Amino acid sequence: MAKKKATAKLKSSEASVTKTPAKSVSTQRKAAADNVAAAIQLSGKPEPVKVSTAKAQLPGISHQPTGPEESWRQSLAARVTAFEHMTPAYMLDDNFFFLDWNPAFDELFAKPLKIKRRTTHGGDFIAELVNPVAILKRATQVFDKEPKPLVDVESLQLISKKYGKLDFRKVAVQVTDDDARVTAWTVYLNIESCERADLLWADLERRLESELNWSQYAVSYDKLLLNFPEYQNLLDGLVARVSGRQRCLDLGAGTGNATLRLLQSDERREVCAVEPNHAMAKQLISKVEQLENSTSSSYFSRVQILKESILRLDEFSRIVRPGSYDAALMMNVLYAVDDPQKCLQRVAALLKPGGVLVLSTSHRDTSVDNLFATLAASLKAKGLFEQLRTNFDDARARHEEMTASIHRDTKADIRSFVEKAGFKITEWCDSAYAGAVVIVQAEKL
Ligand SMILES: C[S@@+](CC[C@H](N)C(=O)[O-])C[C@H]1O[C@@H](n2cnc3c(N)ncnc32)[C@H](O)[C@@H]1O
Repeated sequence: MAKKKATAKLKSSEASVTKTPAKSVSTQRKAAADNVAAAIQLSGKPEPVKVSTAKAQLPGISHQPTGPEESWRQSLAARVTAFEHMTPAYMLDDNFFFLDWNPAFDELFAKPLKIKRRTTHGGDFIAELVNPVAILKRATQVFDKEPKPLVDVESLQLISKKYGKLDFRKVAVQVTDDDARVTAWTVYLNIESCERADLLWADLERRLESELNWSQYAVSYDKLLLNFPEYQNLLDGLVARVSGRQRCLDLGAGTGNATLRLLQSDERREVCAVEPNHAMAKQLISKVEQLENSTSSSYFSRVQILKESILRLDEFSRIVRPGSYDAALMMNVLYAVDDPQKCLQRVAALLKPGGVLVLSTSHRDTSVDNLFATLAASLKAKGLFEQLRTNFDDARARHEEMTASIHRDTKADIRSFVEKAGFKITEWCDSAYAGAVVIVQAEKL
C-alpha cells in the first residue's frame, strides 16, 4: 500500500531522484524507482524529490518529437535493429527448422548448444530444456493442427553450464506471406530469471555492443573504403596471391569486396564466404545479386555464404568440408577474432595440404590515427570528404569503441600463430595499407 502511494507521488512528479549522469529514459526511470524503493526502506515513506529537475537534463528533451512522415521511416529502420540487437530471438521455417537468429540467441543458446541454421530442428532445442517430454507433447498438440496459433506463449527452463538455471517465457509469433500462408515463426525468449544473472547480462551487453559496432561499421564501410586506393591496392594484392586457386574461402568476408573480386577474377572459381555479422552479410548478398543482374551471369551458383564465426567452422563439416579448399583469404580479420590461434587452426583444417593462406592484419605497432589521416587526405583529394564526413567520423568512433576488444598482437605473435597452426610462411610483407597491416602468405604443411 505504502509502495502504491509512493508510485502515485512519483508520477505526480514531486518524488525525488538522486542525480545520476543522464543515460537512457529507461535507466532514469529505473533509477527513480530504485531511489523511491530505497527511501521507503529507510524511513517508511518516500523523501521529497524532484523528477522534473532530473528530467530537464535528459538529452533531446528540449527538442520537438520526430514529424509524422519521418517517424515512419525511422521506425521501419529501427524495427530491424530491434530484432537484431534485443532479447534472444530466432526464426523457424514452416517445418520448424532454424532459419536464423540474433546475436543474443547466438551467445546464450546457439553457440553452447551447437545449434545450426537450416539443420537443427526446433525439437532438438526442446530436447536440451528442462522437462523436454512434456514440452514436446504440448508442441505437438499446439502446432500439429489447423489453424495454427497466431501467438504461443510458454514458460521454459534451461540449465546452462555457464549461467545456471535460466527461466524464460517463450513467445512464438506466426509469420505469413502475401498469400496468407504460414512461412515462418519468430520466437522471442524473454529471460525472467537466471541464477548467474549479472554474468549473463554482462556477456550479453558485450556481445551486443560488439555486434552493433560491426553493423554500424557496415553502413560506412564501402562508402569510405571503395574510395580509398590503399584499400583497393590491398584487395588487389591479396587476391593476386591466390591466383589459380579454384576453391577459395573468404573468411570474415564483411561486405564482400574480396568475395566479389575472387569470383570476378576467375570464372571457374568457387568461393565460400564466411561472415557472422548480419548487416555485413546482407550487403555481401545484395552485392552478389547486383553483380548477377548487371552481368546476367550466375554468381550465386559459385558462391556459398555462411553466416557464422570462423571459430565454429569445425561444426560445419558437411558445408565446409575439411581438407577441401585450395586457398583461404582473411583480409583485416585476424585482429578482430576472439582467439586468433584457434581461428588459424580452424582455417588450416579446411585447406588441402599445400593450400595457401593469405591474410592481412593490424598489429601492436599499427597507428589507427595514421590510417584515418591517410583516408581523410585521400577523400579530400577526391573532393568527397565533406559528403562522407559523418561516415568517416562514425568509422573512427567504431574503431575507438572496439579498441578494448581487438588484438594488438606483435608481429612475432602473428608469425607464431600462423606457424603453430601448421603453416609454413612463404612471404611476409611488413607494411601495407598505409602501414596499418602486415601481409602474410603461408602454405599448409
Ligand atoms: C574489418 S572487417 C573486414 C571485412 C573484409 N574482409 C574486408 O577486408 O573488406 C572485419 C570483419 O570480420 C568479421 N569478424 C569478426 N569476428 C569474426 C569471426 N570470429 N569469424 C568471422 N568473421 C569475423 C566482422 O564481422 C567484420 O565483417
